[in-house]
Amino acid sequence: MGIQEKVIILDFGGQYTQLIARRVRELKVYCEIIPYNVSFEELAASRPSALIFSGGSASVYEPGAPQCDPRFYRMGIPVLGICYGMQLMARDLGGEVIGAHNQEYGRTYLSVQEEADLFKGLGKSIDAWMSHGDQVTKVPPGFRTIAESTNTPVAAMADSTTKLYGLQFHPEVIHTPQGQLILSNFLFRVCRFSGEWTMENFVENSIREIEEKVGPHGKAVCGLSGGVDSSVAAMLVHKAIGSRLTCIFVDHGLLRKGEREQVLSTFQGKFNMQVIGVDAAEELLNLLKGVTDPEEKRKIIGNHFIRVFEREAEKLGDIDFLVQGTLYPDVIESGTATAAVIKSHHNVGGLPEDMQLALIEPLKYLFKDEARKVAEELGLPEEIVWRHPFPGPGLAVRILGEVTPEKLAILREADHIIVEEIKKAGLYRKIWQVFAVLPNILSVGVKGDRRTYAHTVVLRAVTSQDGMTADWYPITYEVLGTISSRLVNEIPQVNRFVYDLTSKPPSTIEWE
Ligand code: XMP
Repeated sequence: MGIQEKVIILDFGGQYTQLIARRVRELKVYCEIIPYNVSFEELAASRPSALIFSGGSASVYEPGAPQCDPRFYRMGIPVLGICYGMQLMARDLGGEVIGAHNQEYGRTYLSVQEEADLFKGLGKSIDAWMSHGDQVTKVPPGFRTIAESTNTPVAAMADSTTKLYGLQFHPEVIHTPQGQLILSNFLFRVCRFSGEWTMENFVENSIREIEEKVGPHGKAVCGLSGGVDSSVAAMLVHKAIGSRLTCIFVDHGLLRKGEREQVLSTFQGKFNMQVIGVDAAEELLNLLKGVTDPEEKRKIIGNHFIRVFEREAEKLGDIDFLVQGTLYPDVIESGTATAAVIKSHHNVGGLPEDMQLALIEPLKYLFKDEARKVAEELGLPEEIVWRHPFPGPGLAVRILGEVTPEKLAILREADHIIVEEIKKAGLYRKIWQVFAVLPNILSVGVKGDRRTYAHTVVLRAVTSQDGMTADWYPITYEVLGTISSRLVNEIPQVNRFVYDLTSKPPSTIEWE
């Protein structure tokens, strides 16, 4: 990526590894996460300017505990070991580590023995977050203890000459309030970085790289959904190769109110991009007739999407590249040796397997909020930058049972009212996803002295970091009240409104 200052974070299976990466990037230093068992040659070839060893749940003496090549310590670049990373460093370099009798979990107060650059400006004590069983009892030759706590004699260690450092606690979590200052000391005092990795530079670099990769005549195709990821990916590629990029936007009939018009007018109109809008709604709704099983619905929708996409791409003639908006968490979740979770969802625009196209994934090193910053940098409209994630199978997974044009129309209207009120109340950006669900329940009501037998609308609103887990969001009674009366007044087929108060797990975010 043409980056001068690059931190490689070796992942030993710690639960906070991604968080370390976030923090380093917040300090405007580029970093990547790599599994701990990377070979020396491979690591050296990626030309890191510093290493961070993450935490991990193993004990260093345990059989099969993650190890790294000892040459990593002698590359002449600074190394910061965090928790397990520190214990490994201590053991590998001739110190001692034991299983601690007094295991420390949670908040601890450390007293600073020596500033050693890493603790510059922190004062005499550090409020730190500990989570460890083992601990270092003797530092390796050349190291000094730079902080201690009642239960942890070596809470931090340093060899300032070789620039090797270890922290028994977690500077990356918010429970270590001065943690960011410690990381900043590591990056700017120890490593002497300048911290110039910004989204502006990212945009410039990635446009240049795409130009080089595609060459002067190459052509690319992109499945554009209007979500922030595919939109940013498409914009970057468009800036690099102009009209040699064609975007395909498939309206499968399961989109939200006004979505198709908005996406097309933004990308075709405002940005003058080559976008083919395909109306495949009728075709898909026919395929979905009578289908009630959630998995079967998903399968039909996924296959249909790929078929339509391939059909359109074929019409374009020779295409060499497929653009995808894959984000970094997807890459590390499926690529890291120690990862515990694997995404089970595939984005719309997922790679049709037999298309034989080379991939362009300009966002594959970015987190979601970084992708949003790039979107802002590129001048994308607010509705796209801040748009909540929307599942590939669209409204179909929010209608229980059979999907029909009538139910879609009700849900579309309900969803529109809900999102509009949430935006009006200034809550939209605080929520990961908010939407309406049509549970296909008819109940008895009364409107204007007449008995009704009509639909119930469910409101789902959750906060989340990545969609893997989620909490329900507490919308105020006042906003709920407004939504409720608008739904039953404005949609004749609705006479009841309920609020889903479950988190994930045990529920999922979508209802199907
Ligand atoms: P669940 O319902 O499993 O959803 O808790 C987690 C996140 O994934 C989104 N989602 C999907 N996204 N294709 C997608 O692109 C899908 O088939 C799909 N299913 C669920 C969901 O909206 C939430 O953000």
